[in-house]
Amino acid sequence: MDSQVTIIVFTSVLLALSQAFTFQSPENCKWRLQDGNKNKIALDCSIRTINSDFDIFKFRSDQSEQITSINVDCSDVFFFQSTMEPRAFQSFYHLQQLDIQFCKFKSLPAGIFLGLDNMKSLTVRTHNSDWSAMALELISNSLVGMPHLESLDFGENNLWDLPERVFCPLPALRHLNLTANRLQEVSKVGVVRGCGAHLVTLDLSANDLVALPKAGLAGLKSLRELYLQYNKISILHDGAFVGLSALNVLNVSSNRLVALPPDVFNETTGLQELYLQNNSLSVVALGLFCSSQSAHCIGYIC
Ligand SMILES: *[C@@H]1O[C@H](CO)[C@@H](O)[C@H](O)[C@H]1NC(C)=O
Ligand SMILES: *[C@@H]1O[C@H](CO)[C@@H](O)[C@H](O)[C@H]1NC(C)=O
Ligand SMILES: *[C@@H]1O[C@H](CO)[C@@H](O)[C@H](O)[C@H]1NC(C)=O
Ligand SMILES: *[C@@H]1O[C@H](CO)[C@@H](O)[C@H](O)[C@H]1NC(C)=O
Repeated sequence: MDSQVTIIVFTSVLLALSQAFTFQSPENCKWRLQDGNKNKIALDCSIRTINSDFDIFKFRSDQSEQITSINVDCSDVFFFQSTMEPRAFQSFYHLQQLDIQFCKFKSLPAGIFLGLDNMKSLTVRTHNSDWSAMALELISNSLVGMPHLESLDFGENNLWDLPERVFCPLPALRHLNLTANRLQEVSKVGVVRGCGAHLVTLDLSANDLVALPKAGLAGLKSLRELYLQYNKISILHDGAFVGLSALNVLNVSSNRLVALPPDVFNETTGLQELYLQNNSLSVVALGLFCSSQSAHCIGYIC
């Protein structure tokens, strides 16, 4: 009996050792297996800034191959600036998920994500607004190199505008979250002119939008969910939602709307959930939601 126990203990120690030897985590990072799969390793790193402590080039190349997920948290105690070079992550060519939080970037250089053919989900939240003067700037080539990216979260970055074609290199993009930035005009959100044809959700909540111009988001023909709450929208122009024929959920609550143009929902025939609370709407034209063959008229109005 005793010897059996010893053997079991011995084997598990051996197993643990062999596992520890197969992966040597960089300083400041912890590693774990994803789905119990040895070839899928997730790294969780807590560092001060990205340039100094997280030297991704130091990885042994046979190790970086196994990494499918990286979470990086920079210290937000001291406001040290982070910087990254083009192709910063290219040795991680099996990477599917990258989440960078609290690292203070001023800009994301061209080609920083080049080589990430398997990326599905990218989050960069600088929380730059903690450092009020610091905005994040993207250039039109900042996001090249991720042909399979489906989900992008750039919330809380103090973004004031985005280059016109910045999302064009992401043909698989479905979910875009730009919440809690400083965006003032939908025309400067980088999703128009054919770049967002496949977007399904767009979150622009908690920005500084003041108006929605006619056809401002036209081109987002697959868009099903649009979140505009907590902006400063006082004007919806006639035709504000034209082109959004797949729209299902629209949240324009907590804005400054006083009126809705009579035909504003004439093309969003699939609209099922509309949130308008916490505006200054007094009279809503009867029939506004029923003029089209809208699947569900909004109950309390029709
Ligand atoms: C966008 O991010 C915020 C903050 O994490 C989250 O609350 C919100 O649900 C996200 N939006 C969508 C559409 O998932
Ligand atoms: C809906 O209204 C807009 C703005 O008034 C107009 O340009 C568009 O042609 C209308 N669409 C339909 C289908 O009536
Ligand atoms: C809509 O926005 C309000 C804020 O005004 C928020 O409380 C609510 O959760 C949002 N609902 C959905 C479904 O997005
Ligand atoms: C109503 O809108 C104002 C202005 O956007 C916001 O500050 C407030 O939190 C909102 N109230 C609720 C209950 O969502």
